[in-house]
Amino acid sequence: MKTDKTTIKRAERTKIPEKENKTAQEIREKEALGEVLKGAVTAAELLEAAAKAGENAYAPYSRFRVGAALLSETGKIYTGCNVESASFSPTCCAERTALCKAVSEGERRFAAVAVIGRTEGKSQFGFCPPCGVCRQLFREFCEETFRVILAAGDEKDGKFRFSEVKEVTLGELLPQSFGANSWETAEQSADKSADKS
Ligand code: THU
Repeated sequence: MKTDKTTIKRAERTKIPEKENKTAQEIREKEALGEVLKGAVTAAELLEAAAKAGENAYAPYSRFRVGAALLSETGKIYTGCNVESASFSPTCCAERTALCKAVSEGERRFAAVAVIGRTEGKSQFGFCPPCGVCRQLFREFCEETFRVILAAGDEKDGKFRFSEVKEVTLGELLPQSFGANSWETAEQSADKSADKS
């Protein structure tokens, strides 16, 4: 490609002004929020359900209220919040609460999860990616393509606005992971040796 002065000038002329750029970004975000994930559930609805679930958080120690909304392959939403303990380590994250609720209802396959974490008393919130323990429990039931939807935004009078939306896969969050297919039981190993002889 030619990179002489004329080319550079042309490129400068076609540069999108900052204001237009913002509009384009907002449109992209709206499209992302409107995307149907499974059945009739959109990313916006899943984020909204996560934000609402966070209102039930029991977080007197961290004062960080997290909500998760997990979407099963059957198109049902299971929500969860974080539940803390005075002795700290029994604390259960919002994602694991939602996952255990769903599994206990008979679900085993999942398409996506949305997570919203907010500091008590603050209207603005940033992205809240799942912790390592939750990633590992998702690994038990979900494919590498399982979608993790995060958002930053603010809350006013109980209404949530998601100004930035980010999506990652479980494979990206937990690469080279250990799972049920990563090891061989003593029985499987014995069967293999028997097949050889
Ligand atoms: N927490 C979650 O519920 N999910 C996350 O993804 C990150 C952390 C909770 C655990 C604890 O109650 C509080 O947030 C502070 O770590």
